[in-house]
Amino acid sequence: MTKLTGCVVGAVFLAVGVVAQDNTWCGKHYMSTDPVVSPGGNFPIASTSPSPLLAIRCGAAVKPYLPEDVESSDDATFVSILVDTPITNRNITGATPVTLPSSSDAVLSVTVSVDGKTLASGDVPLNASKHSLPFNLSSLEPRVEAYTITCDATLPDGQKFNGTNLLTFLPTPPADIGSVTKMDMRTGGLLARPANGSEGPYERVMPIGFYTQYGDYLSQDLSIPATLKEQGSRTHRQDQIHPVPPFDNETVLNQVLDAMQEAGLYIMYDMRGTYMNDTSVTSQVNLLKQRPNLLLWYTADEPDGTSDALTATPHAKNLINSLDGGDGKGGAGYHPVSLVLNCENYFFTEYSEGADILLQDTYTVGNNLSFSSVWGTVCTDDYGDCGCDNCHLGFEDIIVRMDEFADRIFFNGWELDKVVWAVPQAFGNESYWTRYPTGKEVNVQSVIGINHGGVGVVPWDDTKVIPSDIKNSFSDLALSLPSIIPFILEPGVEHSQFTTALTVNSSSSSTSKVDIGAWKAGSKTLVLLTNMGYESGSVTFDELGLGDGEGVMEQVFKSGASVGEDGKSIVFEEVGSGGFVFTTSDTV
Ligand SMILES: *[C@@H]1O[C@H](CO)[C@@H](O)[C@H](O)[C@H]1NC(C)=O
Ligand SMILES: *[C@@H]1O[C@H](CO)[C@@H](O)[C@H](O)[C@H]1NC(C)=O
Ligand SMILES: *[C@@H]1O[C@H](CO)[C@@H](O)[C@H](O)[C@H]1NC(C)=O
Ligand SMILES: *[C@@H]1O[C@H](CO)[C@@H](O)[C@H](O)[C@H]1NC(C)=O
Ligand SMILES: *[C@@H]1O[C@H](CO)[C@@H](O)[C@H](O)[C@H]1NC(C)=O
Ligand SMILES: *[C@@H]1O[C@H](CO)[C@@H](O)[C@H](O)[C@H]1NC(C)=O
Ligand SMILES: *[C@@H]1O[C@H](CO)[C@@H](O)[C@H](O)[C@H]1NC(C)=O
Ligand SMILES: *[C@@H]1O[C@H](CO)[C@@H](O)[C@H](O)[C@H]1NC(C)=O
Ligand SMILES: *[C@@H]1O[C@H](CO)[C@@H](O)[C@H](O)[C@H]1NC(C)=O
Ligand SMILES: *[C@@H]1O[C@H](CO)[C@@H](O)[C@H](O)[C@H]1NC(C)=O
Repeated sequence: MTKLTGCVVGAVFLAVGVVAQDNTWCGKHYMSTDPVVSPGGNFPIASTSPSPLLAIRCGAAVKPYLPEDVESSDDATFVSILVDTPITNRNITGATPVTLPSSSDAVLSVTVSVDGKTLASGDVPLNASKHSLPFNLSSLEPRVEAYTITCDATLPDGQKFNGTNLLTFLPTPPADIGSVTKMDMRTGGLLARPANGSEGPYERVMPIGFYTQYGDYLSQDLSIPATLKEQGSRTHRQDQIHPVPPFDNETVLNQVLDAMQEAGLYIMYDMRGTYMNDTSVTSQVNLLKQRPNLLLWYTADEPDGTSDALTATPHAKNLINSLDGGDGKGGAGYHPVSLVLNCENYFFTEYSEGADILLQDTYTVGNNLSFSSVWGTVCTDDYGDCGCDNCHLGFEDIIVRMDEFADRIFFNGWELDKVVWAVPQAFGNESYWTRYPTGKEVNVQSVIGINHGGVGVVPWDDTKVIPSDIKNSFSDLALSLPSIIPFILEPGVEHSQFTTALTVNSSSSSTSKVDIGAWKAGSKTLVLLTNMGYESGSVTFDELGLGDGEGVMEQVFKSGASVGEDGKSIVFEEVGSGGFVFTTSDTV
C-alpha cells in the first residue's frame, strides 16, 4: 500500500512538471495522457479435455519436520504425506489422461518413495483431497537439504501416474535461530511456540493483526504492544503485529520487538523496500531470526503493481530461506515467507513463486471502481487505476480474488505448499478511497477472507489516527480466535462455503447476499456469516442447511448479527457478521 500512495504522489508531481514515462500499475497505463497498452501477464486459461484427466499431487503434511517430531504423538496424521488425486477435464499442471475404472470403489495404490526407498504407501481414493499416508520420520536423517519425494500411483488395471515434491526434515535449530514456525498443510494453519519466548508447546496460530505504522506510531510508544494484547486479562485483541518499515534505528527496533515479545505478540517481519537488496536482506534476516517471537517473513509489498523484476520474489525467498536454516532451493526453512499481490491477474505465477503464504489486498470501500477519481480516466481490464485492480463488484471482488488465487494455486499443483491470507481495507480518506470503512465493513472483508480459505487476516493499517470503531470491531474478531481456531485449524474438519440471499422485511426484494462458511467437527459446526449488503434482514437455520430442530450452542463472534427472536434464524444489521457454534446431527 505505501508504494501505491508513494506512486500517486510521485506521479502527481510528474504530471505537473516532468514528462511522464511509462507509469503503470499492474502493467496498465493510468494517466490520461498515456495510451492504452495491453498489460499482458494473464494467467493461462486451462485447455479442457473431452475425456477425464488425473493429476497426482503429494506433499508433507507439515513443513518443516524437526527431530522433535520423531517421537510418536497422538496426532496420527502429523507425520504423513498428503495426497491429492483430482479428476478433472481441465488440463491442470501434471494432469494426464485416465480411463476411469468401471467400479466406483476402485482406488489408487500409492507408494511414496525417497531415493528409491519406500517411505509410505496406501490406498487413496480417486478425486481425493489431502488424503493422509503416515510414515515414520526415523527412516530419514535430519538435514538442511530437502528430500525429493516421488509418489507413484497405480489403478487396478495397471494405469500408472506419478507426482513429486520436496519434504524438509531440518536439524534441531542452531543457537542463532530463536523460533520455529511450521506450516500445517492439513489446514494451512501455522504452528509456533508461545511468542513470549516461554518453553511452551507448539500452538495452532491463525494470525489476526494489523499492518502497523512504525515511525510515527509503534516506535513512539513502547506500551502499544501491551495495549494491543491486553495481557493479564482474558482480552486477546490480536496475536501478531506486522510493523511497517522503514526501521531506521536498530536499537529502537529491538526495543519495540522486545515489547511485542513481552506482550506475547508474534512478528510478521516486513522487508518491503529492501527485499531486492541482498546485503540488506542478509543483515535483517540475521538480526531477526534470533527472535523467539518471529512468526514469518514478508518480502514484497505489491510487486505486481510496480512490475518488479519477475525473478525478484523467488530470489528473495531463496536467500531468506538459506539464511534461515533452509537449502535455499525450495525446501522449508525455520519460518515461512509471505508477500502480498495487488493485481487481479498480472504474472501471478511468477510473483507468487516467491511465497509460501500469499496475501491479497482487494480494497473496494469508498473508491469508484470504474472511474479513477485520482487520474480522471475510466478503469478497464487494460487501462486505469481505481485503487482496486479489475474490480467491479464491491465486497464480492474479495470472493473472486480469494477463489481465483486458490484456483490458480491448485492449477499450478501448489495446493499442498501455499496458502492465501486476506488483507482487509482498514484505511481511507486518502487518494482513491474517499472514506474509511466502518468497523463492521472491515469485519465483512475479514469473514469473506476466512470463509474462502484465508488462514490469516492482516488489515491495512493501524495508525495514530485509525478510527476506534475499526479497532473495536476487529478486536471482536480477534477475541473469537480461541473459539474458531479449534474448528478452522483442526485437521480433518470439513469446510464448506456458500452464499445465499438475505431475506428482508420490506416488500421490495433484497439485493443483499450473505456469505457463509461452515466447519464441521463431529457433532459441532462453526458457522461464520457476513451480510455483504446495506440492508438488514435474516437467514433461517434451514437455509444454512442446519435444519429446524438444531440449536445454536453459542455465539462466538458478534459484529451486527445475532440469533433471531424465533430461535430459528440469524438476524443481521446492514454489513453485519457473526460466528456461531451449532450442534448438528451426524446426518447433516
Ligand atoms: C496438457 O498440457 C500439456 C502442457 O501444455 C500438454 O503437453 C498436454 O498435451 C496437455 N494434455 C491434454 C490432455 O490436453
Ligand atoms: C472431484 O471433486 C471435485 C471437488 O470436490 C468435484 O467438484 C468434482 O465433481 C469431482 N469430480 C468427480 C469426477 O468426481
Ligand atoms: C519408527 O521406527 C523406529 C525405528 O525403526 C521405531 O523404533 C519406532 O517405533 C517407529 N515408530 C513408529 C511410530 O512406528
Ligand atoms: C512419471 O510419469 C511419466 C508419464 O506420465 C513418465 O514419463 C515418467 O517416467 C514417470 N516417472 C517416474 C519416476 O516413474
Ligand atoms: C507465555 O505465553 C504462554 C502461551 O500464551 C502462556 O501460557 C505463558 O503463561 C506466558 N508466559 C509468561 C511468562 O507470560
Ligand atoms: C538510536 O536510538 C537510540 C535510542 O533512542 C539513540 O540513543 C541512538 O542515538 C539512535 N541511533 C542513531 C544512529 O540515531
Ligand atoms: C543495500 O543495502 C545496504 C545495507 O543496508 C546499503 O548499504 C546499500 O546502500 C543498499 N544498496 C542499494 C543499491 O540501495
Ligand atoms: C463513478 O464515476 C463515474 C464518473 O464520474 C460516475 O458516473 C459514477 O456514478 C461513479 N460511480 C459511483 C459508484 O460512484
Ligand atoms: C481526512 O484527511 C484530511 C486531509 O489529510 C484531514 O484533514 C482530515 O482530518 C481527515 N478526516 C478524517 C475523518 O480522518
Ligand atoms: C422483521 O420483522 C419482524 C416482525 O415485525 C421483526 O421481529 C424483525 O426484527 C424484523 N427483522 C429485521 C431484520 O428487521
